[in-house]
Amino acid sequence: MTDAHSDAADAPAKRLFIKTYGCQMNVYDSERMAEAMGAEGYVLTDRQDDADMVLLNTCHIREKASEKLYSDLGRLKPLKAERPDLKIGVAGCVAQAEGDEIIRRMPVVDLVVGPQAYHRLPAMVRGEAPAVDTEFPAEDKFDHLPPARSGHAATRRAPTAFLTVQEGCDKFCAFCVVPYTRGAEVSRPAARILTEARDLAARGVREITLLGQNVNAWHGAEGWGLGRLIRALAEIDGIERLRYTTSHPNDMADDLIDAHRDEPKLMPYLHLPVQSGSDRVLKAMNRRHTAEDYLRLIDRIRAARPDIVLTSDFIAGFPGETDADHAATLRLIERVGYGMAYSFKYSARPGTPAADRAGVDAGVADTRLQELQELLTRQQKAVQQSMVGRELTVLFEKPGRLPGQMVGKSEYLHAVHVTAPDAKPGELLRVLITASAPNSLSGALIEAA
Ligand code: SAH
Ligand code: SF4
Ligand code: F3S
Repeated sequence: MTDAHSDAADAPAKRLFIKTYGCQMNVYDSERMAEAMGAEGYVLTDRQDDADMVLLNTCHIREKASEKLYSDLGRLKPLKAERPDLKIGVAGCVAQAEGDEIIRRMPVVDLVVGPQAYHRLPAMVRGEAPAVDTEFPAEDKFDHLPPARSGHAATRRAPTAFLTVQEGCDKFCAFCVVPYTRGAEVSRPAARILTEARDLAARGVREITLLGQNVNAWHGAEGWGLGRLIRALAEIDGIERLRYTTSHPNDMADDLIDAHRDEPKLMPYLHLPVQSGSDRVLKAMNRRHTAEDYLRLIDRIRAARPDIVLTSDFIAGFPGETDADHAATLRLIERVGYGMAYSFKYSARPGTPAADRAGVDAGVADTRLQELQELLTRQQKAVQQSMVGRELTVLFEKPGRLPGQMVGKSEYLHAVHVTAPDAKPGELLRVLITASAPNSLSGALIEAA
């Protein structure tokens, strides 16, 4: 985040510190809030202790994630005692879920703003709007937030960017808070997405990751689905790579699968969470598909794009999960072969349907989580190792830790370290992969013939 500016040339800039927890959508939202506050004369700082305002953009997905907010607020108490003018704001999904309860529990907090009310943040900070706003307004917040350029067309951006195209969720998986914290599914209009993407391209962005809680449920006027949107985005000069996340198996339309075959700018990587390999558990989770449905879908995706790297999320110890259910999940993982996956121990979330169900013994859940992680780590290693000896294209992002080294991402989203003293961020260069480390690859530039 480097885009907040002070428009008020004379007044000394106020400093805004933002801490972002949770998913990529929060990262995107934090950037939008920084831009909105930039118009109010705030510039970003990476030092909390000299900030005029601290904004915590929170995540509610698991208990641990939301408890982080309270430990951070506890640490802010002495700072606020020293400098009562310091403004403390809480944004994001905990703000939505807990509202003014946060101020009751932590009086150091000045304002609470839910994810659908960010456009009102500047007025809240000026004291011209209520200090707690967790409404789901009828209007689209993105129509009121300043566009990405924020009046500073020349501002360069990193070569990769997120772009939210869809928000909210109507799926109501039994464990999940997102439908409550982010609200109903809303798709942004294609025209606005294309404008934002052109603007990003003009500012040096080469790779866009489309974001949505159910990104593949995106739909536009005239029956456009995400596949059609991706084809339109691929026509923008300067945009070389497209990705999207997170998808739901039930929304993988044929057109989107076809785009993986036909659209070279759509990268061969797909995060398609399945959560469990047991039909009984999938049913109890309200996922509305079976393990076999998912495996058949994976076959179709691989038929369209054989080299695609697949990733997923898994939950260990969902209420009612038996050893046999867990074994079915391990079998599904064996059958798919993932490039990477996140696995989480089930966390009961207030207000969700599964919250009242009798949980699995914590020790048992821990053991299952460990087994999932061992298998998934083995698969990740194997997929990374399979890249060694291959020639890939790397989009360079930034200098690495060693002198002359640059770091970028391959088509398959692996971080790649390359000695390339002349390469600039935003360049796409051919690289021979020479080695695989636990979480990255290394390679050597292939000299252009
Ligand atoms: N929209 C995405 C995921 C959103 S949340 C999807 O449909 O898959 C990201 C991940 O957090 C989920 O995929 C799930 O694995 C995990 N998660 C969500 N709620 C959880 C809970 N209550 N306990 C443990 N993990 C959870
Ligand atoms: Fe949560 Fe399920 Fe919606 Fe994903 S699809 S955000 S897991 S309710
Ligand atoms: Fe967390 Fe909200 Fe994202 S709960 S995962 S920040 S949608």
